[in-house]
Amino acid sequence: MKLLVLGGTGFLGPHQIDQAEAREWEITIFNRGKTPVRMFQDDFDKVKRLYGDRDPDKGEGLKSIAEAIAAGERWDAVIDNSGYVPRVAKASAELLKDACRQYLFVSTISVYASNAEADADESAAVETLEDPATEEVARYYGPLKAACEREVQSVYGDRATIVRPGLIVGPGDPTDRFTYWPVRCHRGGRVLIPAASPRTQFVDVRDLAAFTINCVEQGHGGVYNATGPRGPLYFREMLDGCKAVVSTPVEFVEASDEFLQEHGVGAWMGANSMAMFIPPGPEYAGFSSRSNTAAIEHGLTFRPLAETAKATLDWFLASPRAGEPMGTRAGLTPEKESELLALLATP
Ligand SMILES: NC(=O)c1ccc[n+]([C@@H]2O[C@H](COP(=O)([O-])OP(=O)(O)OC[C@H]3O[C@@H](n4cnc5c(N)ncnc54)[C@H](OP(=O)(O)O)[C@@H]3O)[C@@H](O)[C@H]2O)c1
Repeated sequence: MKLLVLGGTGFLGPHQIDQAEAREWEITIFNRGKTPVRMFQDDFDKVKRLYGDRDPDKGEGLKSIAEAIAAGERWDAVIDNSGYVPRVAKASAELLKDACRQYLFVSTISVYASNAEADADESAAVETLEDPATEEVARYYGPLKAACEREVQSVYGDRATIVRPGLIVGPGDPTDRFTYWPVRCHRGGRVLIPAASPRTQFVDVRDLAAFTINCVEQGHGGVYNATGPRGPLYFREMLDGCKAVVSTPVEFVEASDEFLQEHGVGAWMGANSMAMFIPPGPEYAGFSSRSNTAAIEHGLTFRPLAETAKATLDWFLASPRAGEPMGTRAGLTPEKESELLALLATP
């Protein structure tokens, strides 16, 4: 198989490359060459590189891909990890139309218009843009991704694969949303956790990478929510799983939603947040419970939580950030956590 990855050097791309390398595929990656290659350095030595900005209006844009195509280059599959704006997604989709067999676009479950319904599948309505010309990714991430999906589907039809991951976790995750928990358990002692335990979902980056590689290998078109695990998982079960991979004594100390809100602890991510946690409520009943049946039927598998937690912890402890305190990207800083634990201990 010959594979072209648009991206390849962030979080998901290196794992896709690792797995495609294991299958002895010929891999080319296209990016600006700005992001340093850290993971799987050995594998990258064998990867062909094309440089450019995927925005056709920036610099030489997609020229290096156009030149490769003109010189006769063809790929069995393209995996587009780095499309966020429909104008830009359309440009690469059209350029590569006759140069590849399958085009897989990595989207997100943030495309959905509502998070109220539990277990909704891929047929649920997606968000639309009020202003179709907007390119404000930070503000309109979900609807822009949905618009990118439509561009890819309109060019490729049945040859398009749209993968909508939920929260991606594991080695290399720059966000700390899941990482915070195994790392915090590893530090040990009294660990502040939310008292509520709603359903939660995530996908190990290695399982997601394998799914994308399988999809293009087997030519699966269609739309797939790619999030796990196989059945309902509750937040406290996820925390117990993280605790189970450390040898340090840990005591979980529960805090109510009211207490967390009162003390300025946010949800999901950001400095001094309850990492990965969304307080239960009707608006978010479906946020972490998307149906993954279609993806499972097309080859998505899930490694045990313990493997994800241990690999994430090991990666973090071997990274340059190992000695730094957590809580700036997601989770609580040690100071904030101590302050809150002291308050909870005071009757
Ligand atoms: N993290 C999550 O929890 C989550 C959840 C759902 C969906 N997703 C989706 O999953 C995907 C993950 O992407 P990833 O960053 O891990 O992919 P990746 O393939 O590992 O890396 C993306 C690479 O694209 C390159 N790039 C960025 N902008 C570019 C541009 N204008 N032109 C050319 N190259 C460009 C960057 O390298 P250079 O800087 O060198 O150009 C970057 O390293 C995204 O589509 C995201 O929306 C993520």
